[in-house]
Amino acid sequence: MSPDACSDTATSARPTDTSILTTPSWGKPLSAWQSQSCGNYIVTPTTHPNPAMVARNSMSGRSPRNRTLTCTPKELVELSETVLRIEKAVDRQDIDFQLIGGDFFEIAAYLPNQFVDLLILDPPYNLTKNYNGNLFRRLDKDSYTAWFQRVIELLIPMMKPSATVYVCADWRTSTLVLPVLEERFFVRNRITWEREKGRGAKRNWKNNTEDIWFCTNSEDYHFDVDAVKLKRKVLAPYRVKGEPKDWQQEVDGNYRLTHPSNIWTDLTVPFWSMPENTPHPAQKPEKLFAKLVLASSKENDFVFDPFLGSGTSAVVAEKLGRKWCGVDINSEYLCWARKRICAARNAPGIQGYGAGVFWERNSFPQQRKASIVEGQEDTSQGALFK
Ligand SMILES: C[S@@+](CC[C@H](N)C(=O)[O-])C[C@H]1O[C@@H](n2cnc3c(N)ncnc32)[C@H](O)[C@@H]1O
Repeated sequence: MSPDACSDTATSARPTDTSILTTPSWGKPLSAWQSQSCGNYIVTPTTHPNPAMVARNSMSGRSPRNRTLTCTPKELVELSETVLRIEKAVDRQDIDFQLIGGDFFEIAAYLPNQFVDLLILDPPYNLTKNYNGNLFRRLDKDSYTAWFQRVIELLIPMMKPSATVYVCADWRTSTLVLPVLEERFFVRNRITWEREKGRGAKRNWKNNTEDIWFCTNSEDYHFDVDAVKLKRKVLAPYRVKGEPKDWQQEVDGNYRLTHPSNIWTDLTVPFWSMPENTPHPAQKPEKLFAKLVLASSKENDFVFDPFLGSGTSAVVAEKLGRKWCGVDINSEYLCWARKRICAARNAPGIQGYGAGVFWERNSFPQQRKASIVEGQEDTSQGALFK
């Protein structure tokens, strides 16, 4: 569990040498955080918090069943106190359980060497997207590849020799990042996951998947397949000499624990009635990142995410007993992240993961029964437990 950044005196999470780390100022234009390299690609038209954005994100007057997490203006001021800004080189201990505000291209120079066991890399895809006032513009292929190559070059010194890296991408971006990854890492697999959301197209197939490239820094890496088994209903229970063959009979049905493949169809993209949901336009499901963290890190290992967004990787690492640190250029996102991390203390469950296994979608009644049998019922995820 991380040190206490969730109390009123949130400053307790800060390193002792506060000359190294200072909190970002709300009034400071984000453009001041941008290096030359990334300034070409991200236009920052405003300062933060932008009152219009805060008002839009606060969703006042919304339905009582809408559980989307946002911050009030008062919370934004308080939670921003727990966000660090780095201006000098820091040690590993300085960044344990820290949210760092600013441009990763600048911050990278101050981060220590070889501290990362697991790198979760969910960069802006090569799409034009507005990240709460920061516009990432779609680039030509070569420019995006060069941008991504720079990200990887900056990250490599931070990775332990035994580190694993997962890189998220949509189908187009996937083709651009692969050559860069192949040059620097052992690329071991491509996971494709079903996004379930998404608009239909009249003259094309509906875009309903994303990729995650699984890479390691060397041949020496950690992978715990038993930690990420999928619990599936058995449709045709096969018996040998009257005994179940590779499945178990349970109170409410027959189940099999299966090895996870590289196609994942058991995920729900966060939506308004899920407590993990925020207004972030590219938020990943906690269940998705929980699989990465459980398979490719051990307890107390260090999980790093240089494009943290609403904080999903940090929340998951916190819930699963890993150390973590994340960077994002958007201050409001980091406040949402902090609020989620604090909430994780009272609600440590991960939707769709329980009793040490991952469950299929729409299996809440069965998950609930299993957790009651195990004596660890977790109702924290609310009614829409998919
Ligand atoms: C795809 S989103 C990450 C979403 C995240 N995984 C989540 O679940 O919420 C990419 C993030 O990168 C951030 N970002 C873009 N450029 C950045 C930069 N130069 N430095 C730090 N963060 C940046 C954006 O603000 C955005 O939140």
